[in-house]
Amino acid sequence: MSEIRNIVLVGFMGAGKSVIGKSLANNLSRPFFDTDQMVEDTAGAKIEAIFETLGEDAFREIETRTIKDLTDIRGAVIATGGGALKNPENVKALKQDSLVVYLYARPEILFERIKLESGRPIADRMTTLEDMEIILADREPLYRKIADIVVDTSDKSINAVEHEIFESVGY
Ligand code: S3P
Repeated sequence: MSEIRNIVLVGFMGAGKSVIGKSLANNLSRPFFDTDQMVEDTAGAKIEAIFETLGEDAFREIETRTIKDLTDIRGAVIATGGGALKNPENVKALKQDSLVVYLYARPEILFERIKLESGRPIADRMTTLEDMEIILADREPLYRKIADIVVDTSDKSINAVEHEIFESVGY
């Protein structure tokens, strides 16, 4: 693997993309980009507020612009929002010259994690595990298709997940 390829983390809400991404970037001394954070910086508002005042379509537009802006970046770690792959344009941009890691977790675990945190408008629409599984079923094939490697984060510490990523890519 080329040293300068980006490491792109994809997966459902609650998969640990931001936490693992930050830690990976830190340990590899690479720059870190979190597309959700970048969208918030661009809009000057929290994701929840963007959804509330401008709507999901506006959020997706800013998300796509953000991902496009990252296409010239190399050697970084990039954490993406859980819905980013719904737009094929984003898939193409993220796949370009990067190692894509799908952070998987069992549905019950994802549900538990996302219910513990607030600030996710899509998660707020999910009352039951079954609600979540409907959206997950739609997205899972997108995560798997783009992924170079899949890491199960279900019962693992951040360190263990990182170790598995390093092992897979031969660091
Ligand atoms: C979303 C996931 C969120 C964020 C937004 C929409 C989604 O990111 O982009 O709330 O559609 O699944 P995380 O996966 O980082 O929570």
